[in-house]
Amino acid sequence: MERLPEPELMEDQAQVKAYAKADFEAPHNQFIQRLKLFINKPQFSGTALDLGCGSGDISCRFAKAFPLSKVHGVDGSEAMIDYCKLSTPKELKPRMNFILGMLPETILPQSGYEIIFCNSLLHHLHDPQVLWQVIKKYSRPDTRIVVMDLLRPDSIENAQILVNNYALDEPEILKKDFYNSLLAAFTLTEIKKQLAQAGLNFFIEQISDRHVFITGVKP
Ligand SMILES: C[S@@+](CC[C@H](N)C(=O)[O-])C[C@H]1O[C@@H](n2cnc3c(N)ncnc32)[C@H](O)[C@@H]1O
Repeated sequence: MERLPEPELMEDQAQVKAYAKADFEAPHNQFIQRLKLFINKPQFSGTALDLGCGSGDISCRFAKAFPLSKVHGVDGSEAMIDYCKLSTPKELKPRMNFILGMLPETILPQSGYEIIFCNSLLHHLHDPQVLWQVIKKYSRPDTRIVVMDLLRPDSIENAQILVNNYALDEPEILKKDFYNSLLAAFTLTEIKKQLAQAGLNFFIEQISDRHVFITGVKP
């Protein structure tokens, strides 16, 4: 099935609210557990970068998992960044910096980060190289990179089956978003080609019927 891109930014207030209230407990928890295993530094006290942080759920989970860390989260949607600023628990606020900025143009506060992570941004990008080039730009030697995203099913019918299996009880707007995201996602083969084109020798693993998990270290 051909890729069908969706709008890059999630700017509609109703869409943002539905996304922020959705039940992402299982995939987001899995993301953090896998990230912790890969990073293997419970005392990490540097600053991590969350690309396409959305409503900030994963940024906050990271900050809780690494209590000495700081997080810079960037997103091009003002509605998402406003939501992050309003919803971040008070005790985490001193360690969080949510930045409104469009990738790849935006200039981030640090020239390099020790950890860069990203969930569900890749399938939004019309040009996937934006993600890999931003990662290269903001990596230092030894930066740990963790990316999770959706994989495109091989047919419309299989996309609908995934929506029914994982979003049946969610509001219509979220079901539609999930369906559009599955159609906009890349395949494993396409992601391997993107990484080869970017000169990034990362490890790629399919970890569920709809997710790919990618890890790497900047040489
Ligand atoms: C599906 S959401 C994922 C949010 C978050 N990472 C999570 O896992 O909950 C994708 C986010 O990427 C943002 N986005 C898409 N393209 C972007 C770009 N070029 N620059 C900055 N943000 C972008 C969207 O606005 C949206 O908030």
